[in-house]
Amino acid sequence: MTTYLVTGGAGFIGSNFIIYMLKKYSDIKIINIDSLTYAGNLDNLSDIENKSNYNFVKADICDFDAVKKIFSENDINFVVNFAAESHVDRSINEPDVFVKTNVFGTVNLLNCAKNSWQIGEDKYKENHKFIQVSTDEVYGSLGEEGYFTETTPLSPHSPYSSSKASADLFVKAYFDTYKMPVNITRCSNNYGPYQFPEKLIPLMINNTLSGKKLPVYGDGLQIRDWLYVEDHVKAIELTVQKGVYGEIYNIGGNNEKTNIDIIKNIINCINEETGKNIDYNIIEYVKDRKGHDRRYAIDASKIENKLGWYPETKFEDGIKKTIKWYLDNAKWLNNITSGSYKDYYKQMYEN
Ligand code: NAD
Ligand code: DAU
Repeated sequence: MTTYLVTGGAGFIGSNFIIYMLKKYSDIKIINIDSLTYAGNLDNLSDIENKSNYNFVKADICDFDAVKKIFSENDINFVVNFAAESHVDRSINEPDVFVKTNVFGTVNLLNCAKNSWQIGEDKYKENHKFIQVSTDEVYGSLGEEGYFTETTPLSPHSPYSSSKASADLFVKAYFDTYKMPVNITRCSNNYGPYQFPEKLIPLMINNTLSGKKLPVYGDGLQIRDWLYVEDHVKAIELTVQKGVYGEIYNIGGNNEKTNIDIIKNIINCINEETGKNIDYNIIEYVKDRKGHDRRYAIDASKIENKLGWYPETKFEDGIKKTIKWYLDNAKWLNNITSGSYKDYYKQMYEN
């Protein structure tokens, strides 16, 4: 059985990946290693947790012994490394933990995979590969025109994006130096079910539903390229299956929107879905994020042409599905904001 080691599988994108893969393929096994930080939530996986081809291991990707044990007890074909500290605002206040998980954790996984897969000098077992799930933020910020391609120089600004760029360079180094089979994917902003309500879209949905203000950083005219999470998951699936060793693939929605447009769109959709009449005056302009990147936009033509991927979900449909999911899963959201994550959430958002 083809075996995947998915790291950070209790988080937003990792859990969407596991659910999608286990629903689509019955002949694979997935081992999910996650240390369950504030962002890891096993509720995300309740639909598949009892499957016999799914295993959860609570461990830190920085823990050499724990990761080595997984490799020695299983023939891992593919590592898909989602585990990360992923929130830019937190990285500004607490950079160290981003270096530890995002850089050191990635190097630890690379070492364990290399030790297990290498069968000679520059030779590795067939059908084994390391996929590093990275981000468009490693390229820095764009002006009004242009797109990030895979050859755009790395120019990260935040501690988060700097730690992801560092990890990418280590993955590249393991390909260049040891010929280890790897791919790097660099995706734009995701949205969809199970996203922790610290990121723009779920935070705005949660605040609108609970009658709070919607904090817009600076002038709200920053641009992000939004992609529905399932489309990202499908791009990773194709990268695992068809990605050429050593290659980087950009993934994007071809869907640029300003933050303020996203926020107004959320208010409109919630009004439509619930019959409420919430006014734009709940929007509150607040102090800008330090080092705030102005615009991200992805040129995804390489993955489209080489692997046959394209974004299937139109933003108008994806955002409605997402809002409906949060309305239908009020318990999930409530568990975060008032249940087991209450203290963390209060400290971040309610002081
Ligand atoms: P997330 O914060 O929702 O989930 C991260 C998961 O990693 C959590 O389950 C957490 O418990 C786990 N984790 C953190 N530190 C760990 C450690 N030391 N050991 C084991 N597990 C640990 O993140 P996400 O939004 O799902 O992002 C997943 C990956 O995709 C990240 O690498 C991120 O950089 C990348 N990415 C995210 C986006 C996006 O829009 N969210 C876009 C592009 C790329
Ligand atoms: O581009 C991919 C990246 O997208 C991922 O690598 C990151 O893990 C992910 O967090 C995301 O980073 P961003 O910083 O773009 O996402 P965030 O949701 O934090 O913010 C999106 C935009 O909205 C950004 O311009 C900041 C702004 N914002 C965000 C929050 C949380 C606000 O104006 N107000 C807010 O309260």
